Amino acid sequence: MSSRQFPEGFLIGTSTGAYQIEGGNVNSDWWEWERQDGTPCLERSGDACDFYHRFREDLALMAGLGLDSFRFSIEWARIEPSEGEFSQAELDHYRRVLAACHEHRITPIVTFQHITLPIWVQRLGGFTSDRFPALFERYCDRAAGALGDLMRYASTINEPDGLGTGGFVLGINPPGRRGDLDGMRRATANLLEAHRVGAAAIRSHASVPVGVTLALTDLQYEDGAEAGDEPIELNSDVSDQFLELARADDFIGVQTYTRARIGPQGPRGPDVDWSQRRSETEDTTLMGYEYHPQAVGRTILRAWQGAHGTPILVTENGIATSFDEKRIAYIETALREVQACLNQGVDVRGYLYWSFLDNFEWSLGFRPTFGLVAVDRRTFARLPKPSAYWLGAASRTHAIPDQPR
Ligand code: BGC
Repeated sequence: MSSRQFPEGFLIGTSTGAYQIEGGNVNSDWWEWERQDGTPCLERSGDACDFYHRFREDLALMAGLGLDSFRFSIEWARIEPSEGEFSQAELDHYRRVLAACHEHRITPIVTFQHITLPIWVQRLGGFTSDRFPALFERYCDRAAGALGDLMRYASTINEPDGLGTGGFVLGINPPGRRGDLDGMRRATANLLEAHRVGAAAIRSHASVPVGVTLALTDLQYEDGAEAGDEPIELNSDVSDQFLELARADDFIGVQTYTRARIGPQGPRGPDVDWSQRRSETEDTTLMGYEYHPQAVGRTILRAWQGAHGTPILVTENGIATSFDEKRIAYIETALREVQACLNQGVDVRGYLYWSFLDNFEWSLGFRPTFGLVAVDRRTFARLPKPSAYWLGAASRTHAIPDQPR
């Protein structure tokens, strides 16, 4: 095997989340939040990328590019728009999306909850409600019962280790509280339990690998630095709790974008301002993050050690940039990191780039462009970037392309 080669069966594809691409998710808490005063939202999601209606064309495009796998989420608020009321029509819709993946020989990787909640769940207290784990379990049971046979990987919750800090410490997700450590802890306890019971419900219907996908930042302490309670550190402690839980899972989803450095004076590196998009420099991205594609290697190793050898799928890794050559360089370095992990004996099953499309990046709206494919905001036309062809070639050949970029 050449040094650029991946093992047979190694997946190379892309990753998305329902709310960020589907459009019109009017029953989700984010829809309401985008319309409230005082939230950090710069733009509304509206029709997003209209993936809800254009999934067939998108999957055909993905297959044409050569991408072999696709991670997407199903929207709880569509499937259970009111408490206990399940929509057969929406379950049928997601069956059609899954069937289209199979028609194109694309491996579907399904997330059951990606950041958003139905408005009615948020009104009950969202992640902090004592009822949350049982409500999530019932939703998983119904959705997996209807769709499980067509999935190939399933994950319960997207980045449950970031939801507590996002909603209760940083205020960048609903319910938008800041500095509420008690809320964060209650949310975390419920999310841990929700993952446990949700995964069991999915397994009772689908014999596919079931796991959780985590926001694993590459946290680096410099000489003289001490551990404290910066949001990123709180986040990281919760990641450790999920890694422990993931020892019982079939796979663990690693999601990484950059590193975070803590120096003797506290956090170092670009100061991420969530209220506005930063213009990028050579060393930073449109998220204001440090350009550091090496982070994926360290976080894979952290997950491998923390979850005691549970197989790994890189379920998100990517860069928001206006310069597509920078994106290709980022992915190339990241894939080399993945290969280094494989060479050390780590069981990595695949790499999913975030994201397929330029999509709705939460409070930052459509400004940070992560996509391999641009979307015309007026016509919804898809315009593949050179990186889309590059990653498609990697997927088709199971190797890092060596043709000039
Ligand atoms: C989330 C995505 C988000 C991406 C890029 C992850 O934290 O799962 O929803 O768009 O990072 O910021």
